[in-house]
Parts: sequence; C-alpha cells; structure tokens
Amino acid sequence: MDQTLVSTSLLLTILLLCQCTTTTLAQAPAPGPAGPTNVTKILEKAGQFTTLIRLFKITQIGDQINTQLNNSNQGLTIFAPTDNAFASLPAGTLNSLSDQQKVSLIQFHILPTYLTTTQFQTVSNPVRTQAGDSANGAFPLNVTTSGNQVNITTGVNEATVSNTMYTDNQLAVYQVDKVLLPLSIFGTPSPTPAPTSPKATKKKAAAADSPVAGGDSPDASEAGDRRRVHGVLGLGVAVVAMLYHL
Ligand SMILES: *[C@@H]1O[C@H](CO)[C@@H](O)[C@H](O)[C@H]1NC(C)=O
Ligand SMILES: *[C@@H]1O[C@H](CO)[C@@H](O)[C@H](O)[C@H]1NC(C)=O
Ligand SMILES: *[C@@H]1O[C@H](CO)[C@@H](O)[C@H](O)[C@H]1NC(C)=O
Ligand SMILES: *[C@@H]1O[C@H](CO)[C@@H](O)[C@H](O)[C@H]1NC(C)=O
Repeated sequence: MDQTLVSTSLLLTILLLCQCTTTTLAQAPAPGPAGPTNVTKILEKAGQFTTLIRLFKITQIGDQINTQLNNSNQGLTIFAPTDNAFASLPAGTLNSLSDQQKVSLIQFHILPTYLTTTQFQTVSNPVRTQAGDSANGAFPLNVTTSGNQVNITTGVNEATVSNTMYTDNQLAVYQVDKVLLPLSIFGTPSPTPAPTSPKATKKKAAAADSPVAGGDSPDASEAGDRRRVHGVLGLGVAVVAMLYHL
C-alpha cells in the first residue's frame, strides 16, 4: 500500500519534471530570428548560389525582398537555382537579356506568399509570381507534386525542388535544379532555333497575310473577270475592224 503510494507520487513527480523540461526546451529556441531576414546571407551560407546572389544584387531584388519581408505578413517563397543550374543554360543566355528581362526572370522565381511543401500539393495553377501576369504566354508557373516530389513547369522547361534550404513561417527558400524560364522571355525556342525559326516566321507571315488576301480575293477575281471581258471585247472589235478593212 505504502509502496504503491510512493511509486505513484514518484511517477507523478517524474511526469511533472518531464513536462517542465519539455516546456523549457520548447521555449528556449523561441527568441530565434534576431533582426530582419537577409536573403543574401541565407544564400551565402548555403553556398553554390553565387550567380543568383549576383543577380539579386544587380537587379536590386535582394534588397526589395528584405524590405518586403520586413513589411508584409504574407511572406515570400523563393525558388533558388544553383550555380550549376545557371551554368547549364546555353552560353550567353543571361548576357542576351535586357535589364528589365533580368528583373522579370528573377521576379519569376519569387512567389508573393509563403508556401510550405505541403501547401504545394493544393496550390492552384497557374501560380502567381512577382513577375506578374500568369496568363499563358506571359509568366505562367505551375507546381506539380507526386508524393514528396515537387516540380515546377513554366511552359518552357521543368525544374525539380531538390532541397528546402530555409523556412521560418515567413520566408521559404527552395533549391531548384534548373533556372525557371518564363514563356514571355524564352517562349520562342531560342536554344535550337536555327532550323525551326524561319519556318515559324513563314507560318506567322502566312497567317498574317491570309485574312488580308481573303478580303482582297473577291476584288481580285472580279478584276480578273473584267479584264477577261475587256479582252474578249477587244478581240471582237479587232475582228470587226479587220472585217471592215476587207
Ligand atoms: C545582407 O547580407 C549581405 C551579405 O552578408 C550583406 O552584404 C548585406 O549588407 C546585408 N544586407 C542588410 C540589409 O543587412
Ligand atoms: C522594418 O520595419 C520597421 C517597422 O515597419 C522599420 O522601422 C524598419 O526600419 C524596417 N527595417 C528595414 C531593414 O527595412
Ligand atoms: C518531375 O520532373 C522529373 C524530371 O523532369 C520527372 O522525372 C518527374 O516525373 C516529374 N514529377 C512530377 C510530379 O511531375
Ligand atoms: C498550368 O496549369 C493550368 C491549369 O491546370 C493549365 O491550363 C496550363 O496549361 C498549365 N501550364 C503549363 C505550362 O503546364
């Protein structure tokens, strides 16, 4: 009897102690993020993002992100292509872009809301990015998932989320294995255009001409008919004239 009482109180004490330690443990990491989030710092720490960091700097989007994070409660999601991803673009791709296109390209990698990997499974496509218009032909971006795998399709290429680099309930940074190429900038196939592009322009030119040609064609055939009539009349006059002379 005594023994059970003792062991019960012991058990209770142990349980209480456990609860105390777990609460202190849970409370301990709470005062975590000191100061505003600095996305460049996060990328620097992870390594292998020097190209993205450079683009963040020259487009000034890095600073914008930091300000946005400080001022918004929607949070942000960033798809961060690795240096390898940038290196596997066709040579000269980045250099061929205008400043505005560089800005759009980087904005295309940023979603104006914080999304967890679980939320990726229920997100409705196309997803809006900071590049704006998500209509087809502009800046559409689709997220597709299968099990734990998350893919991103742009209408030009498809990337896979290979790692969650950072997440704090406000900012999520996901590593992607390819640079996301927006339709608006890369829509007409540029890496292998040589044989296809003249055909495409020819088709386009024909398509552009056809409504005009269609509109003109009744006139044209009328003119043709008139010409034929004149020709016959002319021949008749000539024959009559010849007969007169005879
Ligand atoms: C963010 O971090 C980078 C690299 O550590 C640093 O150069 C930059 O000044 C920082 N920006 C702010 C606003 O603290
Ligand atoms: C963050 O926001 C606070 C209040 O809105 C402001 O006082 C502060 O200057 C901002 N810091 C940065 C780095 O933008
Ligand atoms: C994601 O992309 C990879 C490589 O392109 C492909 O093998 C895989 O089937 C894709 N998964 C989904 C869910 O679309
Ligand atoms: C993205 O998803 C929408 C809606 O399902 C679809 O209409 C569109 O064709 C998709 N675009 C791409 C590039 O996969």
